[in-house]
Amino acid sequence: MIRLIYISTARSELSEVELEAILRVSRRNNAAVGVTGLLIVGGRRFLQALEGPADAVTQTYDRIKADGRHFAAVTLDSRAISERSFPGWAMGHQPGKSLRGDGAVADDVAALITPISDPTTHAYFAEFAKNHAA
Ligand SMILES: Cc1cc2nc3c(=O)[nH]c(=O)nc-3n(C[C@H](O)[C@H](O)[C@H](O)COP(=O)(O)O)c2cc1C
Repeated sequence: MIRLIYISTARSELSEVELEAILRVSRRNNAAVGVTGLLIVGGRRFLQALEGPADAVTQTYDRIKADGRHFAAVTLDSRAISERSFPGWAMGHQPGKSLRGDGAVADDVAALITPISDPTTHAYFAEFAKNHAA
């Protein structure tokens, strides 16, 4: 298995309805190929972790990168793993809207990432929540 973490930028800020549509399709597709992960949205930035069989993760990421709703995907980390960080989530997501300044959603992200034992993965999400909650 591998885990890949990337960051990207939305062409324009997505509405909650558009985001829900992405999550719905993602959960269906990912469940079918054994991919799990987490997608966090902060303003126009996405941070996503994809984990599972290497072929499934690579094919999913190739499809995501070709999606015109975002651009400038930068792979932050890609490594072999023996254990998933997000075993229960075909694609987890912070509840509510994208990260706002009121701290509530940042707290939600903190709660979401508490179970992540891998320090690199934990650090990427913690930093992202901090930097994009303003
Ligand atoms: C930020 C972002 C994250 C996405 N994450 C996933 C994902 O985890 N899995 C997935 O299958 N599609 C994901 N997508 C959607 C894909 O780019 C693509 O639209 C979708 O996989 C096509 O699925 P379909 O051929 O079943 O319609 C994501 C799109 C965006 C913009």
